[in-house]
Amino acid sequence: MKFFIDTANIDEIKEANALGILDGVTTNPSLMAKEGITGEENILNHYITICNIVDGPVSAEVIATDYEGIVKEGEYLATLHKNIVVKVPMILEGIKAIKHFSSKGIKTNCTLIFSAGQALIAAKAGATYISPFLGRLDDISVNGLDLIAQIRQIYDNYSFDTEILAASVRHPMHIIHCAEIGSDVMTGPLKAIKALANHPLTTSGLETFLADHAKGNK
Ligand code: E4P
Repeated sequence: MKFFIDTANIDEIKEANALGILDGVTTNPSLMAKEGITGEENILNHYITICNIVDGPVSAEVIATDYEGIVKEGEYLATLHKNIVVKVPMILEGIKAIKHFSSKGIKTNCTLIFSAGQALIAAKAGATYISPFLGRLDDISVNGLDLIAQIRQIYDNYSFDTEILAASVRHPMHIIHCAEIGSDVMTGPLKAIKALANHPLTTSGLETFLADHAKGNK
């Protein structure tokens, strides 16, 4: 399973990248605003900065919601760097735009996926990735992991190339369950990625090993 980090924070992206297990980055307009990145020029420059740190797909989200606007914005975003993936919202105008991008070889990430039907039409349009938001479904008492499993089955039934990018990941167990289901990618916060390394028996075991080594080498 590929690991993407879901942030626009440069320090966190650098820290995750330094671990050597980072495959890509996802951003969205809310994450950009959280970092104080506003204004078109600053936003575009921020994408380039991220692309220069991580050698992998970097999702850059369009703001337009009409077909012509999405195509214009997406085609421009795709010129910024070879690793840019145009993030398009799951709306019918977005589906049309994804079909267009797919025919031109521009990679896409269809975002705000909350149902299997949405995942199906995004795949038929040729989306490179689809982003089911599992944490936001959990927030409203709907099992987000069940959706990931349902999409996995549908994509496998028809050998769709579209990759399932589990998004809105909140904690390490989400990551582990996504891996069990066979999600192609997960995107999550740095905290959840780092938490995968923790185990109290590892901590206490290492303390004991180091203490015993110190005793024997006095
Ligand atoms: C997906 O690409 C989104 O950026 C993201 O995962 C949304 O997560 P949230 O529900 O924590 O905002």
